[in-house]
Amino acid sequence: MELRSLIFPLFFSFLFSISAAQITPGSSLSASNPNQTWLSPNTTFFVGFVQVDSGYVAAINYFGGVPIWTAGGPSVSVDFDGAFHFRSNGTLQLVNGSGAVVWDSNTSHLGVTSASLDDSGNLVLRNRSGFSVWSSFQNPTDTIVPGQNFTVKQVLKSGIYSFQLRNYGNLTLRWNDSIDYWNQGLNSSVGSNLSSPVLGLQPIGILSISDLTLTSAYIVAYSNDYAEGADILRFLKLDSDGNLRIYSSALGSGITTMRWAALADQCQVFGYCGNLGICSYNDSGSNPICGCPSENFEPVDVNDSRKGCKRKVEIENCPGSATMLEMDHAKFLTYQPEISSQVFFVGISACRLNCLVGSSCAASTSLSDGTGLCYLKTSDFVSGYQNPSLPSTSYVKVCGPVKPNPTPNLQIDGNSKSRLRVWLLVVVVVVTLVGLVAIESGMWWWCSRNSPKFGSLSAQYALLEYASGAPVQLSYNDLNRATKGFKEKLGAGGFGAVYKGILANTTVVAVKRLEGIEQGEKQFRMEVATISSTHHLNLVRLIGFCSEGRHRLLVYEFMKNGSLDNFLFTPAEQSGKLLSWEQRFNIALGTARGITYLHEECRDCIVHCDIKPENILLDENYNSKVSDFGLAKLINPKDHRYRTLRSVRGTRGYLAPEWLANLPITSKSDVYSYGMVLLELVSGRRNFEVFEETNRKKFSVWAYEEFEKGNVNAIVDKKLDDQDVDMEQATRAIQVSFWCIQEQPSHRPMMGKVVQMLEGITEIKKPPAPKATTEGLAFGTSINMSSNGSTFSTFAASASAPAPSSFSSYQTTGVSPLPLGRNMEGASSSPLGSDLN
Ligand SMILES: *[C@@H]1O[C@H](CO)[C@@H](O)[C@H](O)[C@H]1NC(C)=O
Ligand SMILES: *[C@@H]1O[C@H](CO)[C@@H](O)[C@H](O)[C@H]1NC(C)=O
Ligand SMILES: *[C@@H]1O[C@H](CO)[C@@H](O)[C@H](O)[C@H]1NC(C)=O
Ligand SMILES: *[C@@H]1O[C@H](CO)[C@@H](O)[C@H](O)[C@H]1NC(C)=O
Ligand SMILES: *[C@@H]1O[C@H](CO)[C@@H](O)[C@H](O)[C@H]1NC(C)=O
Ligand SMILES: *[C@@H]1O[C@H](CO)[C@@H](O)[C@H](O)[C@H]1NC(C)=O
Ligand SMILES: *[C@@H]1O[C@H](CO)[C@@H](O)[C@H](O)[C@H]1NC(C)=O
Ligand SMILES: *[C@@H]1O[C@H](CO)[C@@H](O)[C@H](O)[C@H]1NC(C)=O
Ligand SMILES: *[C@@H]1O[C@H](CO)[C@@H](O)[C@H](O)[C@H]1NC(C)=O
Ligand SMILES: *[C@@H]1O[C@H](CO)[C@@H](O)[C@H](O)[C@H]1NC(C)=O
Ligand SMILES: *[C@@H]1O[C@H](CO)[C@@H](O)[C@H](O)[C@H]1NC(C)=O
Ligand SMILES: *[C@@H]1O[C@H](CO)[C@@H](O)[C@H](O)[C@H]1NC(C)=O
Repeated sequence: MELRSLIFPLFFSFLFSISAAQITPGSSLSASNPNQTWLSPNTTFFVGFVQVDSGYVAAINYFGGVPIWTAGGPSVSVDFDGAFHFRSNGTLQLVNGSGAVVWDSNTSHLGVTSASLDDSGNLVLRNRSGFSVWSSFQNPTDTIVPGQNFTVKQVLKSGIYSFQLRNYGNLTLRWNDSIDYWNQGLNSSVGSNLSSPVLGLQPIGILSISDLTLTSAYIVAYSNDYAEGADILRFLKLDSDGNLRIYSSALGSGITTMRWAALADQCQVFGYCGNLGICSYNDSGSNPICGCPSENFEPVDVNDSRKGCKRKVEIENCPGSATMLEMDHAKFLTYQPEISSQVFFVGISACRLNCLVGSSCAASTSLSDGTGLCYLKTSDFVSGYQNPSLPSTSYVKVCGPVKPNPTPNLQIDGNSKSRLRVWLLVVVVVVTLVGLVAIESGMWWWCSRNSPKFGSLSAQYALLEYASGAPVQLSYNDLNRATKGFKEKLGAGGFGAVYKGILANTTVVAVKRLEGIEQGEKQFRMEVATISSTHHLNLVRLIGFCSEGRHRLLVYEFMKNGSLDNFLFTPAEQSGKLLSWEQRFNIALGTARGITYLHEECRDCIVHCDIKPENILLDENYNSKVSDFGLAKLINPKDHRYRTLRSVRGTRGYLAPEWLANLPITSKSDVYSYGMVLLELVSGRRNFEVFEETNRKKFSVWAYEEFEKGNVNAIVDKKLDDQDVDMEQATRAIQVSFWCIQEQPSHRPMMGKVVQMLEGITEIKKPPAPKATTEGLAFGTSINMSSNGSTFSTFAASASAPAPSSFSSYQTTGVSPLPLGRNMEGASSSPLGSDLN
């Protein structure tokens, strides 16, 4: 890396040193000679031609060949004889081999006398007094790089898609200047006060909105490699598939790696598969596939499935024989403000019939998620999504007879099934045509008379469901099948056992079967919504849920490497893998970022309450992901079976002292637990275990004594002895851990501060002894278990404000057995104080 960054710019400037900063009027670049470039002073960026499928584009490129701006936009190319000119009258022109001007900056009337490319990749045209009158940063195409200020007047474009920052600070992705399929940003109470919001990407990979009225920048997204590595360019790009992504590219490599995407589910991009195209995922892959609804359709372009489909026979040409093609687990995307879609509360068969009889209706979707929503699509553009996990059925109007797509293996089955369906439909048509239409239209009339807002409210509801990437609802049967009858147990946590499963779309998942939860359906859904509103790289993602009768299950993404404790505490020869220092430090940072997000950045802040190595999962690249957050609210406090054992989250050794002292539980309680985990990451030892080498003291106590003596080496895991350990990082981590496990919550840092201290951004003062002078910390006061469920909500919902604690015992999932100290009423003193630090 070092060598490369030294050699390449040298080599580069040596070979092609036309002129560095200034571009003289009258100079040109030709597509036929890729060696001709205009370089930035330190050669990080250059203007030159890049070959693409359709020809050559004139682009500003990051060294290595990553385009960050293209003359005329990404789709404008010229042939081999094309050229890019900086004319002496002050305009930039892209000219085709035929001589036609393909793109012009239109700056000839602005008195431009010079042009230059600076080291941030900005191509600037200046007038005689040195003012910038035109720049590529102010005229972006599809990319934003660090240093570039993206304002409300600017727009990124890629094909039919565009990306904009709105006046109120929201970021929107829009299809054909009409449909917003992604809208995220500041909430309206803050947004309405903005004066001139600016979106910027920091060099370390944080996408944020700043404004004069905001005290600190609002963070939109983190690149998943943020703050890592040197000589890396991060850039935000609107791709031609309508998704907005952050990429990173190492200097000179020419390789780009995706680091963040606005839409995790590509099929949610409106119009991704074109008109009447159906987006789905292949069994084997994560790449979306575009197909047609049935054999009644054919692709518009056989070579490009994204162009959409058309009916083989148009509806106008078969009056009387039109029918509805039924598609299970499919929906037609609906986003506001799509006025042409109509929303009603009607049953599934009425949803089908109403579209059939409505002359302007092309398709309809009936949500079978209990909401009874029916969308009639009357626009001429229909964007479809089919997935086994979607709880909806859709209908498309076709000229009969219906010719389903061939199913590869179950062909006979499929045919007989559809014959049966045709029969059923005939019956349904006859019976319901008369009755239902009458009843339903009566109901509409009644509804619209009584609540004029009915339709618009439900449209908003549906928008929320789509836009938030809400988890899908799965049936208990589906999950039973996915887990082969709950066969492969991955582990047992505080809320129930976790099983491995494979969903119908072949996603491997971890299914958590919650126990002791007897909440109402509605409340459960609300909690699920809270959990699923968290989107962070270092949090395990919730994919789906099930709520049927007594069954409450949560479906999470599956983490290949299991939990952190397997790597830390089992001897390396048993687990087969020893985590290097670098990996450990990354895990520490990732975990801290995940918790920071829960505490400080997500919409409904969440106190985790059970941070421990068992709840830190590792993906295939050993990135850490925090799991089991947001569940504390779900436990029914009245349930006696779980009251003593499980009503308190947290595990011995990681429980902050305030848990046992009837003091408020706040986000600082998580900081305490994190501090213990951090110490364990460094030492490879359980913080509460007592060893001969530690003079029969608890490891955390002994470690602080060694630290006081300046003996940091003794604390670091012996298993890392023959590896490179960055002692500066290790010392930092140890100091941070001692700050986190301070007995007084107010002495512990906020989680965001912890991240900064670990990163070395903030100076760390020497930590005082964790077990301070506050010995009398309220142990022994009597503890009353509140039987009011609302205390749970406050406690899990508030990250910074103290909430009353109503818990009194702890979970016994620790490693070694421990006396069941207190139960609900067992109030008075117990010797647990000594177990805390
Ligand atoms: C560009 O440079 C390469 C490497 O020096 C050389 O092989 C090639 O001939 C050059 N191309 C042109 C068109 O000058
Ligand atoms: C500037 O010069 C170019 C090439 O000489 C020419 O095509 C263009 O029309 C000129 N612009 C104006 C406004 O004269
Ligand atoms: C450039 O010229 C080629 C042939 O000379 C033509 O095929 C192509 O369409 C032209 N491109 C533009 C953008 O005018
Ligand atoms: C320059 O002016 C022409 C003619 O008015 C227009 O078509 C073109 O879009 C303008 N180019 C830019 C970059 O604004
Ligand atoms: C070039 O300059 C930019 C901006 O000053 C800086 O970020 C970058 O590190 C420099 N690159 C090299 C290779 O010196
Ligand atoms: C350069 O542009 C600035 C801002 O547009 C203007 O104030 C200044 O007069 C211009 N200078 C010349 C020499 O045209
Ligand atoms: C972006 O905005 C910042 C702060 O207002 C300013 O310092 C910087 O010069 C701007 N960058 C560009 C390229 O205009
Ligand atoms: C995009 O919108 C325009 C104007 O509303 C319309 O004419 C065009 O058909 C739309 N494009 C598609 C692909 O629907
Ligand atoms: C801005 O985005 C937020 C979601 O982040 C949404 O709640 C709000 O309604 C949006 N504001 C507007 C005006 O669209
Ligand atoms: C918007 O932000 C303000 C200030 O941060 C906060 O008080 C308010 O509750 C938020 N509103 C919503 C709807 O999230
Ligand atoms: C927005 O401005 C209004 C009036 O100036 C003020 O009362 C309110 O507190 C401001 N809101 C925020 C979130 O700053
Ligand atoms: C799905 O993926 C498999 C293997 O990658 C491939 O053979 C098959 O053609 C794909 N199916 C479709 C419809 O693209």
